[in-house]
Amino acid sequence: MDIIRVEHVTKIYRIGEVETRALNDVNLAIAEGEFTAIVGPSGSGKTTLLQLMGCLDRPGSGRVFINQQDVTQLSAAQRADVRRKVIGFIFQFFALVPVLDAYENVELPLLLSGLSAQERHDRVMEMLNAVGLAHRVHHRPAQMSGGEQQRVAIARALAPRPLIVLADEPTANLDTANGEQAMEIMLRLNEQTGTPFIFATHDPRVMKFARRIVRMHDGQVVDDGAGVNGLVAGEAVVAPAPAAAAGMRVAGVEQ
Ligand SMILES: Nc1ncnc2c1ncn2[C@@H]1O[C@H](COP(=O)(O)OP(=O)(O)OP(=O)(O)O)[C@@H](O)[C@H]1O
Ligand SMILES: [Mg+2]
Repeated sequence: MDIIRVEHVTKIYRIGEVETRALNDVNLAIAEGEFTAIVGPSGSGKTTLLQLMGCLDRPGSGRVFINQQDVTQLSAAQRADVRRKVIGFIFQFFALVPVLDAYENVELPLLLSGLSAQERHDRVMEMLNAVGLAHRVHHRPAQMSGGEQQRVAIARALAPRPLIVLADEPTANLDTANGEQAMEIMLRLNEQTGTPFIFATHDPRVMKFARRIVRMHDGQVVDDGAGVNGLVAGEAVVAPAPAAAAGMRVAGVEQ
């Protein structure tokens, strides 16, 4: 079953007289368990597509479905709710809160989740252990390496058991060893939980791990096929993502 479906999506940015067609009739479906890289030259629309899939922005035309719900029809508040409940984001510059330590950064998205303090603690420690950072619990971002900061960001993205993880150039600021380690951790979490990961990237290291590679050019998908690591769309056979099992469905945020 598709977790995200993008249908005939077009996005045009206008600045004064200048019009940029960032996305031009894009169609894409992402299923459970996928580990997919969106690749293409600078300006080809990768970040724009990720932002539409993550409810950070709206298309000019076309529709985006998350768990069968058309999120392009939602209000800004409802889209914020979808982001919080079902999307995990990982960014190029980590985007951790500087004054919070590793523990508090991972706990942050859980504060509104209704979990008890003990449940939050268990989940935060489970995630910090999963990314190999149980010994950095009280370090703030400035007191950690880039690789460690990105691993905290991975733990934070996965902590609320999102339906999908969107990562924009997650290895761009990491050296080779740290980039590979981050990819290995994300692949392991993907295999353990079935949560689909979608990367926007230029990085051959990410492409090497990807099971599916979607190639963009001038705002269009020009190629879509298996990566070196294997499967193509719809072939992934995995257990349901825990978030889906726990009833954290997008439909649940309709008010
Ligand atoms: N907020 C914006 N306002 C105006 N134009 C924009 C905006 N965001 C992106 N664009 C334009 O839309 C096009 C697609 O941009 P996008 O950021 O999606 O590309 P990208 O594939 O992610 O590139 P990169 O690999 O450099 O990150 C580019 O031509 C860009 O200049
Ligand atoms: Mg980009």
